[in-house]
Amino acid sequence: MSKLMTANTIEEAVRKARSSRIYANESNAARTNLFNQITYESSTGGNMPLHKYGFLRYQGVMPLNLPDGLRIVVLPDIHAPAHNKQWLWAIEQFLAEYRPHILIFIGDSTDFFFLSRWPKPPRQGYNAMQELEESRELHDRLIKVSGCLWAFETEGNHENRTNSFLSAVAPQISTLVDMDSQEPVMNYSKLLGYKGDEKITFVSDERGFGGYGGCIILNGQIRLIHGLPLRPRAGGSPRVFTDQLGQSVMHGHSHRIGENHRETLTEVLSAQEIGYLANPNRAEMSYHNLLSNGHPGFAAGEVIGGTVNLELVPIIQALTNDRLRFSFWYGDREYTTED
Ligand SMILES: [Fe+2]
Ligand SMILES: [Fe+2]
Repeated sequence: MSKLMTANTIEEAVRKARSSRIYANESNAARTNLFNQITYESSTGGNMPLHKYGFLRYQGVMPLNLPDGLRIVVLPDIHAPAHNKQWLWAIEQFLAEYRPHILIFIGDSTDFFFLSRWPKPPRQGYNAMQELEESRELHDRLIKVSGCLWAFETEGNHENRTNSFLSAVAPQISTLVDMDSQEPVMNYSKLLGYKGDEKITFVSDERGFGGYGGCIILNGQIRLIHGLPLRPRAGGSPRVFTDQLGQSVMHGHSHRIGENHRETLTEVLSAQEIGYLANPNRAEMSYHNLLSNGHPGFAAGEVIGGTVNLELVPIIQALTNDRLRFSFWYGDREYTTED
């Protein structure tokens, strides 16, 4: 952290922070110390340390305050088990080097295809437990390889498929809550098998908003939410809310990548759509060609001088060693998929 504080410019701080040497040398004690400074603002106005009061589930808007030097990776629209294994393989290499302190899944990380109204291919079984187990394994692997100290998941419309399905076919029991947790019986964290002692928080909306209502606000500056009503161009949909809220907005859901900036008298507000990580050729993604400008990617960055700097990291196809591969760049380092 102190290294960042000695930088004279933001550019210098970013360059220093991006040197993988720093990440490799970062001791676990230093990581824990940084993580312990994360607080969330309670509704009564107090700042509570996350490591003491972490939630498994949180409903609504979660305001977090992050200290300088903290690194963040945001992964959109994985749609497990229809995730793109090549891209995620390369992202795992990046996560292992970048070692984010927190990892944010920004929704639609599980597809719930078994509940989908989209046509299923013939002779291919879609099994609820298999989907959930595969998604849980992927979550665990990404969390482990990144070495993150906490993970967050802002639930999306796909995680809400259990609610919409029950409301449609069995409305009489769709409002049942578990007597222990007072949560809907089909809640997502429970289906994945996460318990209260695990370092992950699922942020969901109040029921009835289609799965889009839960979000995280970082340092009072940027709102991370699964999705918003879409505008024709990437960067346009979050921009509407950036203008309304006077706050930067980042979302997934559109499977597009693009950003838009607005300079005010005091700051620059960003509106970012950060792409997707599903495999567009899978049956689960049959609607993908209905989306315009779909583009894979994710976001990563860090807190510098109290400001949360999150950048889009597009995944592109490029010739690498005479082979057409997918790759992305972060800092001066290229991450490439294997054959
Ligand atoms: Fe999605
Ligand atoms: Fe979505």
